[in-house]
Amino acid sequence: MRAIQVTETGGPDVLKLAQLPDPEPGAGQLLVKVAAAGVNYIDTYHRSGAYPMPLPFVPGSEGAGTVTAVGPDAGSIAVGDRVAWVAAPGSYAELAVVPAEQAVPVPAAVDTDIAAGCLLQGMTAHYLTVSVHAVQPGETLLVHAAAGGVGLLLTQLATARGARVIGTVSTAAKEKLARQAGAAEIVRYTEIDDLAGEVRRLTGGDGVAAVFDGVGASTFDASLASLRPRGMLALYGAASGPVPPVDPQRLNSAGSVFLTRPKLADYVATRKELRWRAGEVFDAILAGSLRITIGGRYPIADTAQAHRDLQGRHTTGKLLLLPDVR
Ligand SMILES: NC(=O)c1ccc[n+]([C@@H]2O[C@H](COP(=O)([O-])OP(=O)(O)OC[C@H]3O[C@@H](n4cnc5c(N)ncnc54)[C@H](OP(=O)(O)O)[C@@H]3O)[C@@H](O)[C@H]2O)c1
Repeated sequence: MRAIQVTETGGPDVLKLAQLPDPEPGAGQLLVKVAAAGVNYIDTYHRSGAYPMPLPFVPGSEGAGTVTAVGPDAGSIAVGDRVAWVAAPGSYAELAVVPAEQAVPVPAAVDTDIAAGCLLQGMTAHYLTVSVHAVQPGETLLVHAAAGGVGLLLTQLATARGARVIGTVSTAAKEKLARQAGAAEIVRYTEIDDLAGEVRRLTGGDGVAAVFDGVGASTFDASLASLRPRGMLALYGAASGPVPPVDPQRLNSAGSVFLTRPKLADYVATRKELRWRAGEVFDAILAGSLRITIGGRYPIADTAQAHRDLQGRHTTGKLLLLPDVR
């Protein structure tokens, strides 16, 4: 099969197209012909070595496709079924071995590429707005990188729950997309010095009930300073780099606020929780209340370019790799 392989960690150029033996499903596993693989920020951390992986490895953990073989004791999913997943290492490939426990059946009315692109970022936006901070009607929230993959979905889910979203973005094109997703206010955070002051101004001095921050190093201080007393800072990523160690006393000074550094795996901890969150994401898509924006489709040979675009802030919405396109 054709797959992307990393034999040494580094920049995007270490993502090499390789011809590898077809994998076989073991006990409890499915073999899937990958229709599309999702590109996620965490893939760049695996590629660079920031999150160490045993070498060599095939990157990617998300995708959707059609089951072509089923290992022993793999449950009720059958050959020919369409499935999607967020936790199958080696998804940047024509064929992926997916643990049956991690496979989610794709509803008939959902396109396979939408299924490949909706679950990781969609379930992240879901757990952040439902479980980390249960968004309430009428409250104001701050969503950083509101035109990004997670950001567009956070904005839609939060506004659907009746919140007013202040979004941050870097360009006019991104502003337009974030507004279409429901953001009531947009701050071009690259063009102002006092982001927290601007958030205070937009909230009549009150601050926001929660900040969803996947940007990290460059936004953290302003995020903390933008909260209302007892607000929630959900630091769920580090697109601009990791946040240095934080003195807990800062949470006290900021108004008895909460800080969490969550990850999806802990919020889809059981098969029941995975099926519930995935079901809510698919239901919202089918109901028309959640729109998945595919910001780029790349032939798998152009994976390095996809990583360059994502890390270079050139993208919006979800990026997909297409193993079949040459
Ligand atoms: N914890 C979890 O469960 C979880 C799950 C999924 C994703 N994440 C995290 O969520 C974040 C967003 O992921 P995504 O895949 O949806 O990416 P994304 O938001 O589509 O892309 C990152 C965006 O961050 C903004 N950004 C600000 N400063 C940046 C910088 N110095 N370098 C690069 N980007 C910068 C850019 O938007 P502007 O140009 O508008 O500033 C950029 O488009 C990542 O940190 C990722 O690791 C966490």
